[in-house]
Amino acid sequence: MSAPHLRLGVNVDHVATIRNARGGHHPDPVGAAQIAIEAGADGITAHLREDRRHIRDDDIARLKAELAKPLNLEMAATEEMVRIAAATAPHAACLVPERREERTTEGGLDVAGQHEVLASVVARLREAGIRVSLFIAAEPRQIQAAVAIGAPVIEIHTGAWCDALADKRMSAAQAEWERIRHGAQLARRLGLEVHAGHGLNFATAEAIAALPEIVELNIGHFLIGEAVSRGLAHAVKTMRASIDRGRA
Ligand code: PXP
Repeated sequence: MSAPHLRLGVNVDHVATIRNARGGHHPDPVGAAQIAIEAGADGITAHLREDRRHIRDDDIARLKAELAKPLNLEMAATEEMVRIAAATAPHAACLVPERREERTTEGGLDVAGQHEVLASVVARLREAGIRVSLFIAAEPRQIQAAVAIGAPVIEIHTGAWCDALADKRMSAAQAEWERIRHGAQLARRLGLEVHAGHGLNFATAEAIAALPEIVELNIGHFLIGEAVSRGLAHAVKTMRASIDRGRA
């Protein structure tokens, strides 16, 4: 039997990072989201950070209003963000750590250490009809805590694995890979839906796609980087043609 379709969520945060470097409206994260959907993305992810360093409130409102595919809102577990999520009603919300004290050493949300706050936020988002996931390291303790607070979905943090591979620390990479593999299996056995993301590129996404428990990947930085590198030739050629036309 073949594994279920692996959904690809495209994170457009860094389109907003580039826009904000100049102010104004270009490039537009909503336009980038439309391009990603036309190219085969199953959904769009955006992180509304407390300091609004990339995605802004009106981007979230437009992503929700204008996209034909599901919006996954990444957010801190704060009152302000819960209010925005409830008002926007995205398809999904992924709770992520924004402050040092909210995360474990592996970079994910410390669900085990913040049981009370997170349980209440998960419950309120679920009451608003939003599918909630928790961005955690593939640690049994955190996975069990996710079940205990009533989250239906986890997103496994793949950053440590990707970093170890990029730095050619092969034994660390192997240990991280095993942690992800076993964590995905445990989470599935406990009834959670399993997603993964952070730091994925073409090769690591291909490798992780072999784990049948994982049904969604969320990928941003690498894709936007590729778009800049590969899209530059097209942009320069179009500019060349424009100025040549003007000169003629
Ligand atoms: N998943 C979550 C929960 C994230 O916070 C991020 C980064 O915003 C990603 C996936 C995507 O990571 P990257 O931009 O490294 O692909």
